[in-house]
Amino acid sequence: MKDIAPARHELDPIEIASRDEIAALQLERMQWSLRHAYDNVPFYSDAFDKAGVHPDDLKDLSDLAKFPFTVKQDLRNNYPFGMFAVPREKVARIHGSSGTTGKPTVVGYTRNDIDNWATVVARSMRASGTRPGDVVHVSYGYGLFTGGLGAHYGAEKLGCTVIPVSGGMTARQVTLIEDFGASTIMVTPSYMLSILDEYRAQGLDPRNSPLQVGIFGAEPWTNAMRQEIEQAFDMHAVDIYGLSEVIGPGVANECVETKDGLHIWEDHFYPEVIDPVTGEVLPDGEKGELVFTSLTKEAFPIIRYRTRDLTRLMPGTARSMRRMEKITGRSDDMMIIRGVNVFPTQIEEQILKVPALAPHFQIELTREGRMDEMTVHVEALADHADEIARAYAAADLAERIKQVIGISARIDVTTPERVARSQGKAQRILDSRPKD
Ligand code: DLL
Repeated sequence: MKDIAPARHELDPIEIASRDEIAALQLERMQWSLRHAYDNVPFYSDAFDKAGVHPDDLKDLSDLAKFPFTVKQDLRNNYPFGMFAVPREKVARIHGSSGTTGKPTVVGYTRNDIDNWATVVARSMRASGTRPGDVVHVSYGYGLFTGGLGAHYGAEKLGCTVIPVSGGMTARQVTLIEDFGASTIMVTPSYMLSILDEYRAQGLDPRNSPLQVGIFGAEPWTNAMRQEIEQAFDMHAVDIYGLSEVIGPGVANECVETKDGLHIWEDHFYPEVIDPVTGEVLPDGEKGELVFTSLTKEAFPIIRYRTRDLTRLMPGTARSMRRMEKITGRSDDMMIIRGVNVFPTQIEEQILKVPALAPHFQIELTREGRMDEMTVHVEALADHADEIARAYAAADLAERIKQVIGISARIDVTTPERVARSQGKAQRILDSRPKD
């Protein structure tokens, strides 16, 4: 893999500013953002009034803890445009995240918001090692999902040649990467694995592909998966994080030179980590639920939004801005198996340790009597797909899950191509438990 880290003079000055400079900018912007939300969104004025706080009470960044949280249900209650802080005509774009109820959570952007968003995505891409002039293949879905268009505008802003492929038609993805000479790909890590399979199906060596950087996010993935993809393609695999309620991709990104967690672009998004039960703000270094306050957003300011993502904050390294640890799961994905808390990423880590297994898996939850049972459906690699090899692999994985995670899981090692493939975010958990 090539050394492709950007030089210091290529960075936005704020990325390497002193902590005092960053804090001063944050305070000024946070005061503006709280006032903007209070003055223009009835939901926020009601919530602040009810909590007995006013934007003038914010004299220091730590005063933010006095303000109320915002949760996803608040956005649903104000569907579709009730959370907007500007008249609808000033909203240049709408995005949304797919909801289980059929109605998406709606977010909006002014032209300035779109420009700021492109700036943070361009910054994320530069941190990943992408350069102006590079060919960027975007396989995140285009549409209401923020992945495709978010990546697209960022890549344009950085000065790249953008290939807006979106997800799906995997054979064509490979053809276009090869023919157009893409050096960066932006895609979910699970769909990257489908692209990897397709390379092999077409008899191509992925290590000879033109790809040098993959910017992977929108779902949790492990360092074990990073190694798997980096070795398969001889490329850098870098983590990008974001959520539509905060802006989309580009809230935080790893630096290719360190790959030690994601730097949060703190000049636009202020992070806190809280105890998910008490709501108390935790000191940096302690693990809890990530909460964001937007500092510059016009159309859709968001104050103390509870992401449900679990991580901890760490000091800056390659940049001055704080890092968040790679996300191992969201509280919604936590499974409780006979009293033990388990996340799909823990299963992924163990699967990748068994040489005979492919990294395609789904976890099925069933209930037998009063007990929850977990079955891991995972594929054997093509050259380990006979019955005996699969039985050995199943026993190996069951033992690792028992030893490391501490639970007994049933393992179903299938022949290749039997586990559902993702073209976007992978569905890791199939819950067949009766609804009670
Ligand atoms: O997934 C935005 C995005 C697009 C991020 C492309 C990165 C790349 P939503 O659909 O609103 O937005 O889903 C947001 O996805 O709260 C996390 O639970 C999860 N997520 C996003 N990035 C990561 C990541 C987009 N790098 C939700 N690691 C978030 C782990 C992630 N989880």
